[in-house]
Formats: sequence, structure tokens, C-alpha cells
Amino acid sequence: MPLSSKHLLGLSGVPKEDIQLILDTAVTFREILERPIKKVPTLKGKTIVNLFFENSTRTRISFELAQKRLSADTVNFTTSSSSTKKGETFKDTVLNIEAMKIDMIVVRHQSAGVPQFLTKISNASIINAGDGRHEHPTQALLDMYSIKEKIGKIDGLKVCIVGDIAHSRVAISNIAGLISMGAKVSVCGPATMIPKSIESLGVTVHHDINKAIAENDVLNILRIQLERKAGTNIPSLREYHNYFGVTEERLEKNNKDILILHPGPINRGVEISSEVADGPYQVILDQVTNGVAVRMAVLYLLGTMN
Ligand code: CP
Repeated sequence: MPLSSKHLLGLSGVPKEDIQLILDTAVTFREILERPIKKVPTLKGKTIVNLFFENSTRTRISFELAQKRLSADTVNFTTSSSSTKKGETFKDTVLNIEAMKIDMIVVRHQSAGVPQFLTKISNASIINAGDGRHEHPTQALLDMYSIKEKIGKIDGLKVCIVGDIAHSRVAISNIAGLISMGAKVSVCGPATMIPKSIESLGVTVHHDINKAIAENDVLNILRIQLERKAGTNIPSLREYHNYFGVTEERLEKNNKDILILHPGPINRGVEISSEVADGPYQVILDQVTNGVAVRMAVLYLLGTMN
């Protein structure tokens, strides 16, 4: 069965069957990553452009590696060296790239809705690598993959997303994907970092980190997005750490069986202590490895639809 859409713009509204297909397909690609030769000819002859208008370490490298592992031809676009600096509009830039005959575009942009806009002006398959505060679907898929890999299931698990929910596209995609896959989802953070409308997405709200740790199977911890002015929502980073920081002491006191995820980049000593970031509860670097496999699955499933 193919995916129901030739684009991956978000997980809100995506059928459960599509999420399941991506997660199942990623298992095969995860196994390929353990082989001495980590490359298959699956997307040979396909051309993929990575359009990154916003900083990225994990997502950009992960997509590029996934494309190379699938033998696709890849081109990287960076804003600093492009003609957008000479006054060319975003639309004209994309139309020129499109004229070079490409099959897929992976896009990260600071403005919500840019991937959706690209579907209107391009014939390529569009994959959202993070758009403003809207969605980051491949991050949520790799988070779900990592939960399933570690615990064996998603259905029925209690998952709490902790931190700066108001600025987080990772939270929105995780909420949509996890609920679709049968998890019970909550969020935890200061009231100033939790949008009032969040409960309409089907989540419950905690303001007590100890309770959130005690009552959940998984915590997905988010950083404070200082580049989006999130610092104005809390008195200080030190105070945030004192009230909401996930520390070894809190985990050992409240729930020794909990699984800790973090999408990165981590801010040690703020949302997570170094002991937790490097310790036995977390799977942070496993998430990064799994991200390559999950992105290979997405690229393969979309790339073979055309
Ligand atoms: N998790 C995540 O999106 O990281 P990057 O911003 O480094 O891509």
C-alpha cells in the first residue's frame, strides 16, 4: 500500500496506516545502517533538493545521509550563498530550482506554511523538515520509532511532552502522531509556555514535573527556544531548571522505569541535567541514529510514488 499523499507536511490529519507504514519500513532501513556497506540503489536517478532557510544540525545532516544511503542525487541550498540575498523572491528561487528537473524538496523554514505553499508552485514531493511553530513530522516519527524500539509499543503508553510547548513544532507533530497511534499524551511546563488551546488537541496539562514523571511512561523533553523569545516567558533559566528541569534525583524519586527522549539540541542544566542527558534513562543519540532510518523510509515511500 502506498502512502495516502505524495507530500509529508505534518502529522495532523495523516492516517494511522501511513504512520504505521513509515515506522514499519524504517525497521528495514535501520538494519541497513548496521551493515558494513550502508547503501542501497532504491532512489538511484532521483534528484532531491534540501532547502534549509533556518539553522539545523541533526535534521539537515540526517536527511542528506538518508538520501545518499538511498543513492539519490542530492543538492543542498543554503540561504547565505543563494540569490535570495540579491533580492530574488522565495517563489522565483523555487521555480528556478524546479526548472532543473527535481523530484523532491526537503524544506526547513522559519515561517509556518512554507511547505504547504511549495506544494502549490512545485510538482515535486515536498517534505517538511520544520516550519516555524507549525510541524516537524520526521522528528515526531523518529521519536515514535525510538519509543517503539525501546518499549515495544506505542498504543496505550502515557507520554508527556515537557517544556516550551508554545514555540514547539516538535510538540505539535508528536501530539498528532502519538494520539493517532493510541498513546495518552500530556504536556508539562509553566502556564506561560502552554497555549490555552492545547487541550483541544486531546492532551491533558501538568504544571508539576514530579507528577509528570510519576504518571508517565515516557518524557519527551523540549528546550526553551530562546531564538523565538521564549526567555521572556520565564523569570530565568535557573528558575526554570529549579521548577521543571529533569534531574536524576527527580527520576529516581518518582519513576525509575521512565524513558527519556529529547529531540535536541539539548541545553544542559536548563531543561535536562547532564546526568540525565548522559545517563541510563535516555535514548537521545539512538533517536539521532533512528532519524536516518526513518527519513530513509519517508524518502523511499514518497520517492517511489512518482
Ligand atoms: N531536532 C532538530 O530538529 O534538530 P536540528 O534543529 O539540529 O535539525
